[in-house]
Amino acid sequence: MHRHHHDHAHGQDDSLETLRDALTARFWDERYGGSDRVWSGRPNQRLVEQTADLTPGTALDVACGEGGDALWLAEQGWQVTAVDVSEVALGKVAQHAEDAGLDDRVKLGLYDALADPRPAGRQRFDLVTVSFLHVPQPDFAAIYRGIADAVAPGGRLLVTAHHPEDVATGARHDHGPGLLFEPDRVLETLGADRPGGDWEVEVADTPTRQQATADGPLAVRDTVVRLRRLT
Ligand SMILES: C[S@@+](CC[C@H](N)C(=O)[O-])C[C@H]1O[C@@H](n2cnc3c(N)ncnc32)[C@H](O)[C@@H]1O
Repeated sequence: MHRHHHDHAHGQDDSLETLRDALTARFWDERYGGSDRVWSGRPNQRLVEQTADLTPGTALDVACGEGGDALWLAEQGWQVTAVDVSEVALGKVAQHAEDAGLDDRVKLGLYDALADPRPAGRQRFDLVTVSFLHVPQPDFAAIYRGIADAVAPGGRLLVTAHHPEDVATGARHDHGPGLLFEPDRVLETLGADRPGGDWEVEVADTPTRQQATADGPLAVRDTVVRLRRLT
């Protein structure tokens, strides 16, 4: 998946307001409206890897973008709810789902992480997956706790993100200090780093993969966390 050219605010002005501006419907509608396909349409490698051993049930794809992950899950037999702040993105997912004959397995919902931390009301899911939703550090806990709340007892939370190391290797622009995160931030935020909590840590890893760039392949690092809700 080609995510090299994020034109998020970065560099000079990294005030909280500027960072939050890159989390608005206006920003993303413009982005998704500007090209036929922003991402590759393929599912994220980590989603494919981390769901291989799960039995399909209900899934929530948070910040689904154009729906590569959501549609792939639907193909595997999951009953998927896909939510995003961008109606333009959701329109694309609806079209792709219809084209693929998967519209009966994909429901769509509008979700603004900054306005309401609950991505799907009170509904709970066997799998909640969120890929590459990077939010300012002061907003992280409320947003990721809200996302984690949507996991049903016995269900899984899968978080995939860009690892902060990628900034130093030049793999991507700095999205602003604190926007990229390591597995520990997820574990600490959800209390999964302490025994006796709600979660079993199944995966907390930082694997690399090769990403194609104009200068040839470049190793990029992901943050991958998979938790199982115990209660
Ligand atoms: C880097 S893209 C990742 C898209 C998709 N998960 C994927 O892996 O291809 C980040 C996504 O977060 C969504 N997003 C940005 N701000 C948001 C917000 N405030 N609430 C919900 N989603 C948001 C964007 O519309 C975009 O689709």
